[in-house]
Amino acid sequence: METMTLQSGMEAPAALLNEPARVSSPAGAAASEPLSVLTLAALHAVGWLTVSNFIGVGLAILLLWPRAGAWLAPWSYGRWMPVHMNLQLYGWTSLPLVAWLLKIYRADGGGLARWSRTALVLWSLALGLGSLSWLDGHSSGKLFLDWSGYVRVFFPLAILFLWGVLAAAFLSNRRGEGNALRWLKLIGLVLLLLVPFALYAACSPDIYPPVNPDSGGPTGASQLESVLIIVLILFLLPYGVSRRIAARRRWLVVSWVVFAAEGLLCLGLGRADVSNNRPTQFISLGSLLVWVPLMPAYYTSFQWQENTRRWRMAVLAWWAVLIPTGWCLFLPGVLDRLKFTDGLVGHSLTAMAGFATSLLVLLLIGLTGPEDNVFASRWAFVAWQAGTGVYVLIMLIAGWIEGADPAFTMVPNTTRNVIYGIRLCCGMAMAAASAEWLWRLHLRLRAAVGSSTGYAFSTARARAQ
Ligand code: HEM
Repeated sequence: METMTLQSGMEAPAALLNEPARVSSPAGAAASEPLSVLTLAALHAVGWLTVSNFIGVGLAILLLWPRAGAWLAPWSYGRWMPVHMNLQLYGWTSLPLVAWLLKIYRADGGGLARWSRTALVLWSLALGLGSLSWLDGHSSGKLFLDWSGYVRVFFPLAILFLWGVLAAAFLSNRRGEGNALRWLKLIGLVLLLLVPFALYAACSPDIYPPVNPDSGGPTGASQLESVLIIVLILFLLPYGVSRRIAARRRWLVVSWVVFAAEGLLCLGLGRADVSNNRPTQFISLGSLLVWVPLMPAYYTSFQWQENTRRWRMAVLAWWAVLIPTGWCLFLPGVLDRLKFTDGLVGHSLTAMAGFATSLLVLLLIGLTGPEDNVFASRWAFVAWQAGTGVYVLIMLIAGWIEGADPAFTMVPNTTRNVIYGIRLCCGMAMAAASAEWLWRLHLRLRAAVGSSTGYAFSTARARAQ
């Protein structure tokens, strides 16, 4: 292994967490109290991933054999689809970030650990109730903002509870932290407080129509903005799960300078009914290609746990696929053919199942420690990555055919059935991989707390181990 100089005192995670970074920590998994809250968060996240993946397999079966919907009615395709998507977003994609926040605000240990666990349970309860309400046919009609009726109140309240835990952690830990960090955390808290209210408001069907009437879809500017937000998240995530290498500061500086330049470009671009046929739109979106080499360079400025290697490679590989393909999708001629086809499903999967999932696993490994072996299973890694890769490829092919022949996915034919059959196999491989991770997490928690006490964490027991 290469020699790395660690920046003294200023190491981001150590400063953020005010404790020795886990990279070199020999602490055993079962002996650390904070680990328990974070592992529990991982259990909730992977639990929802698994449930949602099996629902995805069910959806893939329904698309191959639509008549099966008659047996399931009224719980047929249209009712399961929002459950699949919302559980992937608010369960799998969100909970690892919740765990990251709990760690950054140091709410995962001491007296607050109990409240953090309660926040996780409330979050999952909201998802469970939400699923029942969507299956019951209640929905605002807005994609990813389907919360309606009593769950539209319950979920924001669960988020508010989590916010209360983070705020309490901030107040009780603030004395031990430097001024800059304290301000950063305070600003973070203020922004986070907006989330439950914004979510409640955005779920109203009256706020804005589900389809943008000005453009009928995204503009180059809106795409650029959302990718830059993802870049910002990518910038921040290493600061909780790795250490900065002082000698490699150069790439950090270059990345921030490029980020600022892209921000200025965003401000200068037109909005609303701007067409993707305008060269300024697709050329400016093409500026994102600079992040394909720059993001890996940025990540080499940090020292990572050994057990994250495979997933780090996966994150960067998916990133290198996502940015150029996403850009190509926006080009005149290509977007016209692929819009609202399976090609877009392929793009969603590249972003969510390929890139975001690899990133979230990387985050979970970083949070749960260097001894973590939950995501070490080689077969599960290969099943997930290969399953996702093939799924994306066949959806792009199906989308391309569908663009020229809109009846292709609706009228059964051999090519479509073969493609949808392969999708089903890919989905089963992905669902099996997530079930393996869930099983390993279950074993890990059982080992940590003792099978007789279930998952209710006992500090005294853990200390005694
Ligand atoms: C991390 C894993 C996954 C994520 C984040 C995810 C996310 C999504 C999203 C966002 C959509 C909507 C796509 C769109 O309309 O643009 C979707 C649709 C769908 N997903 Fe998943 N999914 C995942 C795993 C799976 C798995 C394992 C299967 C199993 C085959 C599956 C089957 C489906 C099906 C059948 C659709 C509907 C496609 C259509 O309407 O034509 N998904 N998924």
